[in-house]
Amino acid sequence: MNNNIVVTDSRTGKHYDVPGDIIFPDSLTIIDSRTGKEYAVPVHNGTINAMDLRQIKLSEDDFGLMTYDPAFMNTASCKSAITFIDGDKGILRYRGYPIEQLAEKSNFLEVAYLILNGELPSKVQYNDWEYSITHHTMLHESTKKLMEGFNHDAHPMGMLASTVGALSTFYPDSHNIHDAESRKLQTYRLIGKMPTIAAYCYRHRLGLPYIYPDLELSYTGNFLSMMFKMTEMHYKIDPVLEHALDVLFILHADHEQNCSANVMRSIGSSNADPFVSMAGAAAALYGPLHGGANEEVLMMLREIGTKDRVPDFIKRVKEGEQKLMGFGHRIYKNYDPRAKFIKETADQVFEVTGRSRLLDIAIELERIALQDEYFIKRKLYPNVDFYSGIIYQAMGFPTDAFTVLFAIARTAGWIAQWQEMLVDKEQKIARPRQVYIGAEKRDFVPMEKR
Ligand code: CMC
Repeated sequence: MNNNIVVTDSRTGKHYDVPGDIIFPDSLTIIDSRTGKEYAVPVHNGTINAMDLRQIKLSEDDFGLMTYDPAFMNTASCKSAITFIDGDKGILRYRGYPIEQLAEKSNFLEVAYLILNGELPSKVQYNDWEYSITHHTMLHESTKKLMEGFNHDAHPMGMLASTVGALSTFYPDSHNIHDAESRKLQTYRLIGKMPTIAAYCYRHRLGLPYIYPDLELSYTGNFLSMMFKMTEMHYKIDPVLEHALDVLFILHADHEQNCSANVMRSIGSSNADPFVSMAGAAAALYGPLHGGANEEVLMMLREIGTKDRVPDFIKRVKEGEQKLMGFGHRIYKNYDPRAKFIKETADQVFEVTGRSRLLDIAIELERIALQDEYFIKRKLYPNVDFYSGIIYQAMGFPTDAFTVLFAIARTAGWIAQWQEMLVDKEQKIARPRQVYIGAEKRDFVPMEKR
């Protein structure tokens, strides 16, 4: 609805079309009980501007009121047009398109284009995009050498984050972050090279030769080939698995201001290049409370071992001994719409690979948890990581590679968030305030007197 108001400048007689809420903003009245003073703070988009609180002071030399919000529980750090989530209703949309429609009708590269550019591509735009990504899949031979330096049992996420960061040294032109053309080039490089790095991480650990990208294959088909090709001339890709991986990539492509997206924006806000910014984002994803949860889910399921041990495990979770990994979400207080889709994808994959016995344990965990007062009261539902690991395992991916798969898909979201931050005139270097609770000024005591 257009709530614009026509304003006439009496000095010039000119008319201006101005958003109504600028002239008559909704406002919040604050009465400071310490001073008795009253303040009207404008409300826009259901938020107040934290800087508007600074005027609320006890005296002239008072710094002014701040908000205290550890872990950003109730603070919007940006305006974004990329991803919409309604956590209570279980809704996820990229650029307005429901995730269900994209997962059913689109493919990962098209969704990546949408997330980055705001609109679905035309045929010509898509072909150009696909060509550009495909032609940036190769790694500099020195990158391979760099990766050879990792220990044979290095965690793939450690290798991935370091190698992505190291790409910054290969592409010094990426420092040119305010140039849209340069950003586009780095985007091709990052989306193109992530699967290659991920596959090399896997093969390095097994001591297998690296497989070069095959430009004839799809994005996910090429990735599967780089992962699993042995001595055959052409790796035979199962179309069901190729499609399932594509769907999983779509479901993981962006998720608004999650921990790693926030890191990407935060590092990028210092004008660091996208490679080092993304190394930081990947490091955040590595954590078990974020993308590392899919790996933890598999370990948890293996530890439970059999269906009959599920009730005992749930009891231990409720007693606070451990978490039910793959459950709960900061934003979703309903079924994660991605988890619903992943379950369907699992069925398709298991038709090809055979059913995983871990799936039965997971289904039993979900069944019991969703009926249990502890989980109901806290609105804890399966999240994206609950079933994704079981599918990845069935497809032949080792457990510690799961988060790497998440990172490949999330690259599109990270770059889109970074780019949006860079062109947003309201953004500056990210620098939170603190509430200092340490010692008052005191004098240094020489060591012999302590
Ligand atoms: N198992 C058992 N209890 C839980 C769980 C869980 N998985 N998640 C939350 N709770 C409890 C928590 O102990 C707390 O209880 P109480 O009120 O008695 O103290 C309550 O639920 C609220 O939890 P919270 O920790 O305040 O919620 P949060 O928004 O800070 O944390 C979360 C969200 C995802 C970190 C958390 O739910 C969790 O640790 N889940 C397990 C890890 C996981 O699956 N992570 C993947 C998230 S989705 C993909 C991604 O983001 O990468």
